[in-house]
Amino acid sequence: MSNSIFLSVFSNTPTQKTSQKIPFWFMRQAGRYLPEYRAVRKNFSNFLEFCYTPDAATEVTLQPITRYDMSAAIIFSDILVIPDALGVNVQFAEGHGPILEPVSDLQKLSKQHFAEKLSPVYEAIRKTRKTLAPDKALIGFCGLPWTLACYMVEGKGSRDFASVRTTAQREKAFFAGLISLLTESVIAHSIAQIEAGADAIKLFDSWAGVLSEQEFMDYSIIPTQKIVSAIKAKYPHIPVIGFPRMAGSKAEQYAKLTGVNALSFDGSVSLSFARRNLQPYSIPQGNLDNILLAEDKNLAIAQTKKILDVFADKPFIFNLAHGILPHTPPENVAAVCDTIMAYSKRII
Ligand code: CP3
Repeated sequence: MSNSIFLSVFSNTPTQKTSQKIPFWFMRQAGRYLPEYRAVRKNFSNFLEFCYTPDAATEVTLQPITRYDMSAAIIFSDILVIPDALGVNVQFAEGHGPILEPVSDLQKLSKQHFAEKLSPVYEAIRKTRKTLAPDKALIGFCGLPWTLACYMVEGKGSRDFASVRTTAQREKAFFAGLISLLTESVIAHSIAQIEAGADAIKLFDSWAGVLSEQEFMDYSIIPTQKIVSAIKAKYPHIPVIGFPRMAGSKAEQYAKLTGVNALSFDGSVSLSFARRNLQPYSIPQGNLDNILLAEDKNLAIAQTKKILDVFADKPFIFNLAHGILPHTPPENVAAVCDTIMAYSKRII
C-alpha cells in the first residue's frame, strides 16, 4: 500500500510543506446519484439487507472508483449497523430516512450477537480489498456515540434532537451508560474493520452541531478521544479521520484533543479558520459544498480551485462538506475530479 496517495499524506506532519498529489474522495460517493448504484439498489427492498450482502456492497463500493478514479473507496455500509447489531429494530422507510425503535432501557441492548451480525460488513471489506487496486485506500467507518445516541433515543432524524438532549440532562446514568456502551461498540467495530482490511477509519459525528460547548466536550470530544486511543493502542499506523459536523469554531478543540490524524470540516468554518486553527493540529479534509456540487458545475469548479489554493501546499485531503445529494448530476462530480487531478499535475 506504500504507493497510495491517500495513505502517504499521513506520513507528513500537518504543517510540513509538501508538493504531493492531492488525495480525494467524496462522502456518499456510492449512492443514488449514480445510475449503476440504482441498478443494484433496486434488487433490495430492505436497505440494511443490501448493506449485509457482501457481493452487492463490494460492487457499489467500487463503482465510483471505476468511474472517477478517486484515491480511496469507503466501504458501503451505514452508521446504523451498530444499533442494529445491538438488537435495536432499524428500518429505512422510502423517503423518510431511518426509523428506529426508541431506546429508553439499556437492558434491552445486547452485545451477544454483535460480531456475528456485523460479519457481512467484514466480509465485504475483505472482498473489496482483494479487488481494489493496491494504490487505492479502503476506508472503514462508524458513527460516533453522540450521533448514534441521537437516532437511538429519538427513534428517527430530527432538526434539533430536543428529546435526546433533554434525556442526556434528565437521565444522566442512562445516558452515560448508553454513551459508554456505544464507545465500546465503535471501538470493536473499528478494530474488526481494520482486521478485515480497512486502511483507515472515518468517524462520523453528523449531529455534533446541536451540542453546547460542555455537551460537545462530554459527548463528542471525550468519546472520540477514547475511541482514537483504543484504535491507536492496537493499530498505531492506521489513520483516523474525525468529522464533528457543523461544529464551527469548536472543531479547533476537537482537532487539538481527540488525536485524530485528519479532521473533516464543512462550511461551518471558513477556509482561513481551517487553515489557521485546524491545520496546525490535524490534516484538514474538506470542504466543497455538496449543494453547489449538485446545482452548479461551474461554481463547484471555481470553489474547488479556491479550496486547493488555500490548502494544497501542506498535507490535505479533498472532500465535500457533506454527502453527495441524490440529484447531483454525475458529470458535475467528473468535472470536480478533473479539476483536482489537473491541479495535482500542476503542483508536483
Ligand atoms: O459512499 C459512502 O459514503 C459510504 C456509505 C455510507 C452510507 N451512509 C450509505 C447510505 C456512509 C458513510 C453513510 C453514513 C451515514 N449514514 C451517516 C453519516 C454521514 C452523514 O450523512 O452525516 C448518517 C447520519 C447515516 C444515517 C442514514 N443512512 C440516513 C440519515 C439515511 C437516509 C438518508 C437518505 O439519503 O435517504 C441513510 C441511508 C443511506 N445510507 C443511503 C446510502 C447510500 C441511501 C439509501 C438508499 O440508497 O436508499
